[in-house]
Amino acid sequence: MPHTISLIPGDGIGPEVSRAVQQIIEAAGIAIRWEETSAGGDIEITDFMKSPAVLSILKNRVALKGPLATAVATGPPSLNVQLRKALDLYANVRPVENLAGVASRYQNVDMVLIRENTEDLYAGLEHTVVPGVVESLKIITERASTRIARFAFEYARKWGRKRIHAIHKANIMKMSDGLFLTSIRKVAEQYPEIEYQEMIIDNACMQMVLNPCQFDMLLLTNLYGDIMSDLAAGLVGGLGVVPSGNIGETCAIFEAVHGTAPDIAGQGIANPTALLMSAIMMLRHINETQAALDIERALQKVYTQGKNLTRDVGGSATTADFTEAVIRELRT
Ligand code: NAI
Repeated sequence: MPHTISLIPGDGIGPEVSRAVQQIIEAAGIAIRWEETSAGGDIEITDFMKSPAVLSILKNRVALKGPLATAVATGPPSLNVQLRKALDLYANVRPVENLAGVASRYQNVDMVLIRENTEDLYAGLEHTVVPGVVESLKIITERASTRIARFAFEYARKWGRKRIHAIHKANIMKMSDGLFLTSIRKVAEQYPEIEYQEMIIDNACMQMVLNPCQFDMLLLTNLYGDIMSDLAAGLVGGLGVVPSGNIGETCAIFEAVHGTAPDIAGQGIANPTALLMSAIMMLRHINETQAALDIERALQKVYTQGKNLTRDVGGSATTADFTEAVIRELRT
């Protein structure tokens, strides 16, 4: 039985990298029926729950997604955020590790950031108090904090991770970040085999660039998670070489964390690695473990050889050259 998976190719380089990933997965021998769908930016939608993407993902439970363009400072809310909220994809999982062949000042980086994905300043509750004064509401609930903590500790148990750092600013935001911490502490007590530590966000950023290898897993609220996961990605070569998954109770969306790269869209030089790595996470999620391993090995081989890398990672290959090289490795 083939898997049916929703595919949102996205904007800019999205369709180019999606096509590359589809070809590689096909070469790995996995039968997938891709249900291609739009996230809705191109059509008028009054009820986002009825958007083609939401309906498709609710049915198929799993999606692979390319980047979506979002206007800065004006325009409608981000479709990415709307999708996560509509499907209650509360856990953003971002593994960060070195990829052989990609230049980095750090070696042996191997960490997973777990970001709460549904609340905090991303609740999108902003209003004008009086002209010239606006207010953004930072929403933290015990329910969401406990849920993400349980997810993180279960993840650690499942994947043999040893230590979790909760990242916060509870010395200043005593109530909101305070509630996040007290909720996590209660969950941590139930997992005595996993070391639990807390670190203030500003110190955590410094520690991250001084010695990233001290981190095994990080557990963060939405905004801190967004910022620190990009910081962590920068330590191993940037957003082009790290994957992500947005996981909920019933559905999951796997996506590259880079954007639509409008400066190179349509030129055939985009790097599909991040989306491919996200697809590898997706294959593990649907229990296609062997295919995930095969693609991972082929990808590592192409990077170690270094002959078919795209421009962003120091090579001169096109998207097609890179894709063919991974497929060749898969077949040998
Ligand atoms: P960006 O990630 O699109 O581009 C930053 C730089 O990285 C550019 O020089 C670009 O060419 C390069 N780059 C990114 N991905 C690459 C790839 N796969 N291969 C080679 N080079 C790559 O970030 P930017 O310019 O800030 O955002 C552009 C648009 O993307 C915005 O509308 C933004 O809202 C959206 N965006 C969407 C995301 C998503 O859907 N998850 C995440 C981040 C941004």
